[in-house]
Amino acid sequence: MLPTRRSLLAAFLAVPALPVANRAEGQEPTLPLTPACGDDEDLTPALTAGPFYKPDAPLRHELSGDAPNGKRITIAGYVLDGNCRPVADSLVEIWHADDTGAYDTRGYRLRGHQMTDKRGRWWFGTIVPALYPGRTRHYHFRVRRPGAAVLTTQLFFPNEPQNDRDRLYSPSLLLDIRDTEDGKFGRFDFVV
Ligand SMILES: [Fe+2]
Repeated sequence: MLPTRRSLLAAFLAVPALPVANRAEGQEPTLPLTPACGDDEDLTPALTAGPFYKPDAPLRHELSGDAPNGKRITIAGYVLDGNCRPVADSLVEIWHADDTGAYDTRGYRLRGHQMTDKRGRWWFGTIVPALYPGRTRHYHFRVRRPGAAVLTTQLFFPNEPQNDRDRLYSPSLLLDIRDTEDGKFGRFDFVV
């Protein structure tokens, strides 16, 4: 039997603080570093915001009510600095197309932001966006850790036929997606 989105989010949030968070200067970590960070070359790449960004998106975790017929997904992850340390109070902002491939440019459907919690974690409940002409399936994000510049980027879905035909697609911006009993669960850690 598959897990539920809720149980996977609960498992993600139950993980103790990342081991590197407590690493004292000069001490070897007891567990391997997260492979996605630890080197400037591994910073999350930037991508264009596209034409549909709107400032002042509301503070919230749950967006799925904006598109009740969409396929549910919970997406979650950390904001890490270049030394793999989770960063609390980082801005994570999302905007994306609905289940017909349309963006809400009048209001704030499927738009939201939040600040990472004290362990540097973010999560949104939302839907899988539909394709729209010229693009593969994607979410738009803006991420900013305190004191740093804003990273504007996009996240992609694995195994999408359109990925290789999308000029913005990057395999380093793929969500790690799992199927669940009630939708999907996606994971991505931003390194900023
Ligand atoms: Fe887009």
